[in-house]
Amino acid sequence: MKDFENVLLEAEDGVATLTINRPKSLNALNSATLTDIGDALDVVKNNEDAIKVLIVTGSGAKAFVAGADISQMRDMNPIEAAALSKLAHNSFGKIENLKQFTIAAVNGYCLGGGLELASSCDMRIVSNKAKFGQPEVTLGIVPGFGGTQRLTRLVGRGKAKEMIATGTMIDADEAYRVGIADEITAPEELMDKAKAIAGTIMKNGLIAVGMAKYVIDRAADLPLDTAIDFETQMWAQTFATEDQTEGMTAFLEKRHAKFSGK
Ligand code: CAA
Repeated sequence: MKDFENVLLEAEDGVATLTINRPKSLNALNSATLTDIGDALDVVKNNEDAIKVLIVTGSGAKAFVAGADISQMRDMNPIEAAALSKLAHNSFGKIENLKQFTIAAVNGYCLGGGLELASSCDMRIVSNKAKFGQPEVTLGIVPGFGGTQRLTRLVGRGKAKEMIATGTMIDADEAYRVGIADEITAPEELMDKAKAIAGTIMKNGLIAVGMAKYVIDRAADLPLDTAIDFETQMWAQTFATEDQTEGMTAFLEKRHAKFSGK
């Protein structure tokens, strides 16, 4: 679709795949890679007609992303550290704010900034060989690309604090048990599984999918009454779409719906 130095962006049949592509450093995230991720996400955002679902994965058999780039970080001062953190927040925020559904296909080590990247996606399908952790305290720092917040929202405060304070890795089964992983597959089936889920999603009314993800993300931390009001507004808005008419008409006519995304 467009060439980047540190990531690959490819699209086929409505599904884009963003591959973090620095396998020699286990796809560690330096500034250039975080910038490329943000720029690639702009391409995805600006191609909503062609791209319906985004899969994020890592290059090579070993790692999804083994964290922020330690060789870049070692000599940083606090001002440079804040800038790197803001760069990551900007790029990961773009993932969260895409209308398209996002799937992290976690093919290996998913550590530090890697787990923070995967946590920014709507769901995580993981290889049974993948390993997860927030090892920042082993380097004398705290998670800085969203880990204290997004991991906590996924697994709860107790487990997040345990993972962050011990810095130890958990395997795919444990990641599934605590709610980081939504599905586990054999490594060789990972991308097919991610594409199959993308295919299932794409058969549905995609305005509704986008609205559902929006209201889940935006309302999750609001008081329940306010959140429920928000849901009512989103629900009512879907009745202004052609997809709603088509979906319900198709049901009553006992046929498959052909959604236009309008
Ligand atoms: N940054 C920079 N380079 C990294 C890296 C990272 N996060 N992770 C791995 N690499 C590099 C290694 O330095 C090595 O490079 P060389 O071949 O040039 O020596 C190469 O990738 C392969 O790594 P290993 O030889 O270490 O591979 P291994 O199989 O022995 O170990 C590993 C794999 C357990 C993942 C190990 O590489 C590791 O512990 N990596 C660091 C993990 C980490 O601490 N991540 C958190 C970073 S901090 C962070 O992310 C902060 C934040 O909140 C954003």
